[in-house]
Parts: sequence; C-alpha cells; structure tokens
Amino acid sequence: MNKALLHPAAKPLVFLLCLLPFAWLVYGAFTDGLGANPAEHLIRATGDWTLRFICIVLAVTPLRVLARLQALARFRRMLGLFAYFYVVVHLLSYGWFDQGFDIAEIAADIVNRPFILVGFAAFLLLTPLAATSFNRAIKALGARRWQALHKLVYLIAGLGLLHFFWMREGKNDFAEVAVYAVIVALLLTWRVGYYFKKKQPKRASPAAGARGRSPAP
Ligand code: HEM
Repeated sequence: MNKALLHPAAKPLVFLLCLLPFAWLVYGAFTDGLGANPAEHLIRATGDWTLRFICIVLAVTPLRVLARLQALARFRRMLGLFAYFYVVVHLLSYGWFDQGFDIAEIAADIVNRPFILVGFAAFLLLTPLAATSFNRAIKALGARRWQALHKLVYLIAGLGLLHFFWMREGKNDFAEVAVYAVIVALLLTWRVGYYFKKKQPKRASPAAGARGRSPAP
C-alpha cells in the first residue's frame, strides 16, 4: 500500500478525487440538478465537505501510525488545503446566494446569528493554517512553532461541529452532527493517547545497565 501511495500518479489522482465533489456541484448547478433550492444545497454541501476534509486531515496521523502507512503524510498538506478550498466556496456561496455580497448585511448576520459567528471564527482560524502550509512558511516559523500553530485544527473541528450543531438545533435534527462528533472525539482521544505515549521516557535497556552506565539524573 505504501508503494502505491508513493507512485508518481498517486498525488494527481488524490487531487482529482478531492475536486470531484466540487465538480459535481458545478455540474449540478449548470444542469438544474441541485433541487428546489440550489443556493441552500450549495451552501450545505460545501459546509459538509469542509467538515469531512477536516476529519480526513485529522485521520491522517492515526492511519499513518496504526496502518503503518508512512506515505500518507505526503497527502496531508493537500487535504488540508482542500478543507480550506471548500470553506472558501462555502463562505462565497453564502455571501453571494444568501446575502447578495452585501458586506454590511453579512457583517450584521455574523454578529447577530451565533452559528454564523462560530463558523466565521473557524474560517478565520483556518486561514493562517492554509497560509503556512508551504515549505517556506514552515522554515520561517520553525518546526516547533509550526506544529503548535497547526494544533489549532482540533479547535477548528470543535467550532465546525458547534456551528453545525447550532444550525441543526432549530430543526431538532442532530443525527449527522452526532456522527461527526463521535468521529472527531475518537480522533482527538487517539491523538491525546499518542501524545502521552510519545512523551513517556524510553526505558534504558538491560544491556546498557550491564555496561555500567549511570542513570539519567
Ligand atoms: C471551518 C468552517 C466551517 C465549517 C466546518 C462549516 C460547516 C457547515 C456545515 C457542516 C453546515 C451544515 C450542512 C448541512 O446541513 O448538511 C453548514 C451550514 C452553513 N454554514 Fe457553515 N461551516 C463553516 C464556516 C462557515 C462560514 C465562515 C459561514 C459564513 C460566514 C458559514 C455559513 C453557513 C450557512 C449560512 C449554513 C447553512 C444554513 C442553512 O442552510 O440554514 N459557515 N456549515
């Protein structure tokens, strides 16, 4: 599997797969295939895909470790940028079809509707992650600071869930929200466990003791 993931065609293929939902929506928009309320369909579908890509990005490390798929790491940046791509399309669809690009209306809506405010906060937090996903930025920030910044993705996932939950509250329909919440909770729990496992000091081997090395202070 690692071999297949390292194949030169793997990245372009994953890129096309990630673009497929967008292409499907564009096709639907031009063929009257988005149902009775195309604007709502577009906003909701791009919101769903943003959350899905955030979950996929969070799943990369667990899958890499548990399934020993080291090569998965080379797709993480692309997957993260697709999460950003879908949230930008989500925001633009909302701004255009819901608010007619009226900046004053949009600003008022962000302030007045808590679920929009939370979504907007998640978008704002996702922006520096997308902007620093390039090698130059990683070098400029340094690996430690870059890693600390990119841990924000867990907060973003939480805000995305809260945004979704709040939106569905009015309809009393939480089934899908619950599925995403369980996925994010499982991924976060695994990550916390992995963090502590990595932090544990490695036990000195008996062979080292036999050679008479003094223990670390
Ligand atoms: C990381 C950021 C975001 C995520 C993960 C996200 C996710 C979602 C999800 C999952 C839905 C529900 C889709 C469904 O019902 O199937 C949704 C709906 C929606 N979101 Fe977002 N969103 C984000 C940011 C934003 C932003 C920045 C705005 C606007 C400022 C926004 C505005 C909306 C609106 C207007 C709806 C539809 C409400 C309705 O149809 O009643 N979202 N979003």
